[in-house]
This record gives sequence, C-alpha cells and structure tokens, in this order.
Amino acid sequence: MASTAAILALIILLLPPITLAGDLHGFRGTLTRVHDLSPGKFSEAARRDSQRIAFLSRATTNSSSSAVSFQALLANRDGGYNMNLSIGTPPLTFPLLADTGSDLIWTQCAPCTKCFQQPTPPFQPGSSSTFSKLPCTSAFCQSVPSSVRTCNATGCVYSNYIYGSGYTEGYLATETLRVGDDAAASFRDVVFGCSTVNGMDNLTLGIAGLGRGPLSLVSQLGVRRFSYCLRSDAAAGESPILFGSLAKLTDGSVQSTPLLKNPFLQRSTHYYVNLTGIAVGSTELPVTASTFGFTQTGLGGGTVVDSGTTLTLLAKDGYAMVKQAFLSQMANNLTALNVTSSGLDLCFEASASGDLLPVPTLVLRFAGGAEYVVPRRSYFDVVAVDSQGRAAVECLLVIPAPRKLPISIIGNLMQMDMHVLYDLDGEMFSFAPADCAKV
Ligand SMILES: *[C@@H]1O[C@H](CO)[C@@H](O)[C@H](O)[C@H]1NC(C)=O
Ligand SMILES: *[C@@H]1O[C@H](CO)[C@@H](O)[C@H](O)[C@H]1NC(C)=O
Ligand SMILES: *[C@@H]1O[C@H](CO)[C@@H](O)[C@H](O)[C@H]1NC(C)=O
Ligand SMILES: *[C@@H]1O[C@H](CO)[C@@H](O)[C@H](O)[C@H]1NC(C)=O
Ligand SMILES: *[C@@H]1O[C@H](CO)[C@@H](O)[C@H](O)[C@H]1NC(C)=O
Ligand SMILES: *[C@@H]1O[C@H](CO)[C@@H](O)[C@H](O)[C@H]1NC(C)=O
Ligand SMILES: *[C@@H]1O[C@H](CO)[C@@H](O)[C@H](O)[C@H]1NC(C)=O
Repeated sequence: MASTAAILALIILLLPPITLAGDLHGFRGTLTRVHDLSPGKFSEAARRDSQRIAFLSRATTNSSSSAVSFQALLANRDGGYNMNLSIGTPPLTFPLLADTGSDLIWTQCAPCTKCFQQPTPPFQPGSSSTFSKLPCTSAFCQSVPSSVRTCNATGCVYSNYIYGSGYTEGYLATETLRVGDDAAASFRDVVFGCSTVNGMDNLTLGIAGLGRGPLSLVSQLGVRRFSYCLRSDAAAGESPILFGSLAKLTDGSVQSTPLLKNPFLQRSTHYYVNLTGIAVGSTELPVTASTFGFTQTGLGGGTVVDSGTTLTLLAKDGYAMVKQAFLSQMANNLTALNVTSSGLDLCFEASASGDLLPVPTLVLRFAGGAEYVVPRRSYFDVVAVDSQGRAAVECLLVIPAPRKLPISIIGNLMQMDMHVLYDLDGEMFSFAPADCAKV
C-alpha cells in the first residue's frame, strides 16, 4: 500500500497542474480575428452572415441540439475570432473559432480519412496519454441528436453533418484541455469532437463552442461567467477573453440587461436579450414587444448576442423602421445605391471630399434600462474603396433577417470596443465601453 501511495505521489508530482472542471478560479485566453474586414471584404461577411442566420435559426428549432448548431456553422466559416485551445498530454495548440452561437468543441484528428489541409498536423490521439474515446452510454453522447449519432466500434460517432456546401464526421472523445497559455487553466476529461472526415475548406481548424448547451466549453468547465473585449483595431493586437473570477466589468458606465430563455424552445444554445427600443438620431422608432421578441410561429424569434456573426441582423419589421429612419435622416438628400449583389442593404456613395458621411446616431435599448450608444464604426463604415484607396461606398452594417427567419442577431462588429460579460448565475448580459488593449 505504502509503495502504491509513493508511486501515486510521484505521478502526481510529474503531472502538470490539472484543474477539475467546476473550479471557479479565473483564467484568460486571447482572440484573433479570422477574417480581414478591410473595405472590399464586407460583402463576403454579409454572405457568410446570411448563411449563418439559417444555421442559427435551425439551431433554435425544438428538435435540434448543440450538435446541429456546429453542423451548420461549418457552412460559412464564419466572420469570427479564433481562440487558442491546447489539447492532450503533452498539449498541442489549435486556433479554434470562439463561438457563442454553438456548443460543440471540435478539431481534426489523425488518422484522417478525409481531412482538410492544415498548417500544423491534426491532433494525434495515439500520442496523448490522456485521450479516451467517449462511451456511448455517456450523457454527452446522448445529447447529440439521434439522427446524426451512431454507436459502433468506433465509439460515439457523429456523421453526415451536412451543411451548405460540405459536411463533417467524427467521434466524441475526452481529453485534457487548456485555454491559452495558462497552465492553471487545464481541465481534464473535456468532451470534444475528433473529426476524421471533412468536406469543407481550411479557414479555421475547428470550433470552440461557448453556447449554453451541455457540450460547450463554458458548460463543461463549469464556468459561470465569461467576458471578452473585441478590438476594432484587430490588426494591432489580440483581444482578451476572460473566464470565471477574472470576468468582471469595473468601469463606471456598465449597462446590464437580463439574459432570457426562449419560452417556445425546450433547449437552446443561444444568449438571448430583450431588445426593447432603437433610436436613430432623435427619432425613437415604434418598436413593440413583438418587433424583436420571441415568436411561437417560425423559429422562435428573439434577439441573440453572437460572437460568430459579423454584421447585425434585425427581424424584418424592425429593420424596415431602421432603414426608413436612416434614409430620411441622411444629410444632403443622398440617394441609396442599388447594392443588391453585395449582401448589404443600405449603402451610399462616399463623399468626394474624403470626409466620412454625416450619419444619424444609433442607440439600442434593452430591458432593465440598459442603453447602448453604438460607435459609428460599429454600424456605418466604408465598405469599398476606389483604385486610389479613397472611400467609395459607405454602408449600414445592419441587414434584414430573411423574411421567414425572424431571429435578430447582434453581431461582433457591434460588440467592438466594448467589454461584454455573460453572467450565467445572475442571468445577466452586461457591457461597458472599453479600451480592449487595456482589459
Ligand atoms: C496560438 O498558438 C500558436 C501556436 O502555439 C502561437 O504561435 C500563437 O502565438 C498563439 N496565439 C495567441 C493569440 O496566443
Ligand atoms: C488550405 O488548403 C489549401 C489546399 O487545399 C492549401 O494550399 C493551404 O495552404 C491550406 N491553408 C492552410 C492554412 O493550411
Ligand atoms: C461507425 O459508423 C460510422 C458512421 O456510420 C462509420 O463511418 C464507421 O466506419 C463505423 N465504424 C465501425 C468500426 O464500423
Ligand atoms: C417547442 O416545443 C414546445 C413544447 O413541446 C412547444 O410548446 C413550442 O410551441 C415549440 N416551439 C416551436 C417554435 O415549435
Ligand atoms: C434636398 O433637395 C431639395 C430639392 O432638390 C432641396 O430643396 C433641399 O434643400 C435639399 N436638402 C438638403 C438637406 O440638401
Ligand atoms: C438593382 O440591381 C439589380 C441587378 O444588379 C436589378 O435586378 C434590380 O432591379 C435593381 N433594383 C433597383 C431598385 O433598381
Ligand atoms: C421585454 O421587455 C419589455 C419591456 O420591459 C417587456 O414588456 C417584455 O415582456 C419583455 N419580454 C420578455 C420576453 O421578457
């Protein structure tokens, strides 16, 4: 017995510090923008967002679970931010898309049957001492929808995840996972997807789901609060993401609004807020509870805060009010351009003087009195330049949600230069203007 204890002690000393899921200490990661959003790249973002809204809406149907969320997300590669996650023992680091709109954590694993090419080798289960396949009896396996789940000698298999122009397939496993470079932010036995068949391209090496479902990083680590601050000058540096006790807003001008559950859905991945009003310039728009609220028909409606969508999308009636207000308040009788092919909706020819166009202010109001005075670059910006690099077209960075998908989404452009906090115990979403380089 004594010798066994001594051996155990030795083993424990040799292992890196491992935090048990559920510990509430704080830790920090960094976010790096995946997509270049220079002028000229916005219509790509709009296209990605249009595909993503279909995904988010699918993910809110009653029959879905977290697995369906990541299925569709793959379709659009997303206008988001990567976060480094290290997997295994010894740890290998992968930049994965940090996505509050989905749950599953996954990356490619060797041996690949059909993987996309990546700059570093995919994860090697055989080289990690902490890798285990997830048994089919696990509740985590059961949380994958039965339509895409198989249990066989490979393990808890997800397959035929069909999305837009591709698909992925693999099996669930458990591993030691580390967020960022913080050795104290290591967690054992975290369930993740080992994808071995992928019919898609290689713009990101996988996804770190931060949603509300059981398979998400947030749920599995037992983190009850997290925050991030997205830099508008993303090229200048990384954006912080903070978990647990480190996630707190200290600035005096913090605004808070309750996080909501969709009453028409049994379960949901999403972080819903109650968008109760919008002001454009001095005009308070006639927003009612039904404009951005939940809907029994269709796909559940509501307003979601999402790190994985680039632009902001508003349910059609709310968008129509916003558009009308901008059209009537743009100075100098500017006429909107026909931009049907760009994916954006409301655009104007830039001023020949080189100055930015004068545009009305935009304020979003949320239940509980929270007010967000949106910075100009988060809702109206130059999206195309001429051959001399001068501003040619400026657009509203808000687009209408498809008629049949009434969900509204506050995208990541509208979250820039703000420290935003998701408090799951308090069921509150809070935000404060911030210099993200100093958070
Ligand atoms: C992510 O990890 C890679 C590989 O270890 C490293 O080169 C890169 O600097 C890391 N990025 C961040 C933002 O920490
Ligand atoms: C993505 O795949 C293409 C070929 O399919 C390859 O040329 C490119 O280097 C890959 N990109 C990365 C980052 O691995
Ligand atoms: C398990 O099922 C998946 C999906 O149907 C299949 O690709 C895989 O080959 C199966 N594994 C075994 C060992 O039969
Ligand atoms: C989801 O299911 C619940 C309970 O079965 C039902 O009341 C609700 O109307 C459904 N929601 C939608 C959007 O279908
Ligand atoms: C808009 O155009 C009309 C008619 O051309 C003109 O009378 C008016 O002054 C213009 N308004 C602004 C704000 O430029
Ligand atoms: C806008 O342009 C498209 C073609 O690019 C055309 O089909 C459409 O009719 C135009 N709309 C208006 C209002 O001019
Ligand atoms: C949203 O807030 C408004 C105004 O406070 C309230 O009337 C409405 O019931 C709230 N909606 C939900 C779903 O909580």
